[in-house]
Amino acid sequence: MDSIREKAYAKLNISLDVTERRTDGFHDMCMVMQTVSICDELELRPTDTGRVQVKSNFSFIPGDERNLAAKAALGFFEAVGKQGQGLLITLQKSIPVGAGMAGGSADAAAVLRALNRLYGAPLTADALETLAARVGSDVPFCVRGGTALATGRGEKLETLPSLPACKFVVCKPDFSISTPELFRKLDQTGLRCHPDTAGILAALRDGELEPVARRMYNVFEEVDDRRLRTVREIKSVLLDCGALGAIMTGTGSAVFGVFRPDADCSAAVAALRAEHGFCREAVGVDRLL
Ligand code: C5P
Repeated sequence: MDSIREKAYAKLNISLDVTERRTDGFHDMCMVMQTVSICDELELRPTDTGRVQVKSNFSFIPGDERNLAAKAALGFFEAVGKQGQGLLITLQKSIPVGAGMAGGSADAAAVLRALNRLYGAPLTADALETLAARVGSDVPFCVRGGTALATGRGEKLETLPSLPACKFVVCKPDFSISTPELFRKLDQTGLRCHPDTAGILAALRDGELEPVARRMYNVFEEVDDRRLRTVREIKSVLLDCGALGAIMTGTGSAVFGVFRPDADCSAAVAALRAEHGFCREAVGVDRLL
């Protein structure tokens, strides 16, 4: 059987709210999510090794089931009755790791979309998203893509009108923040502010960019962590360079600004790239499935 290629697009949180601590170790969330053009490239090649293996240009990324891409492939083969099918997944990673951009989840989602295509669409879109939820909380959104409201653990999705045309500037400082650690700290401190999610949804329905950008808010920025000082500094640079709004995505550490589609973002990119490891422009990507 031939190999197949698929792009794994990153996500940004236009908003992130934590609404409830659950008894199963997770939290209930309410998030407006957006797929963006920064992506990893995957090649999937069925093999006769009987094993699912992952190779990548990032040497520290696990090559076995600890990698969500491998977990997704094993889940797919089980769901379609092909247990024991061998597969080599080659990952060319561009999405920064530990950024809150769902890089690992995007890879897993790309594996699910690609395998379903390779094997003649044995699973419906609904079945693919249900399978995705078992791989990780962000994987269903990454399977579907576009602009969506994600609730529950993040796996309950409602597709929203596309974000009006805009540019993103995304900067990832050199440190990462552990997701479970940040949730723990949030539980300790509690929350005083919440994003105006209803206002964001209304602005999306009106097709208006500026009221969306002005309302962007991530509750994790309230957590008491010294590293978040750098997040605030990056936000200031983005806003000073003309961003309509700027926030941290997910549990960080990447920060992004939203600009008008015709804005010149080169000053923001140059300033942030000189100071921090990763800074790139991106645009929104519409629904994938
Ligand atoms: O589902 P995922 O593997 O991405 O979650 C990683 C960790 O993040 C969980 O073990 C949990 O500690 C935390 N988490 C949470 N509530 C969510 C999603 C993740 O508490 N909705």
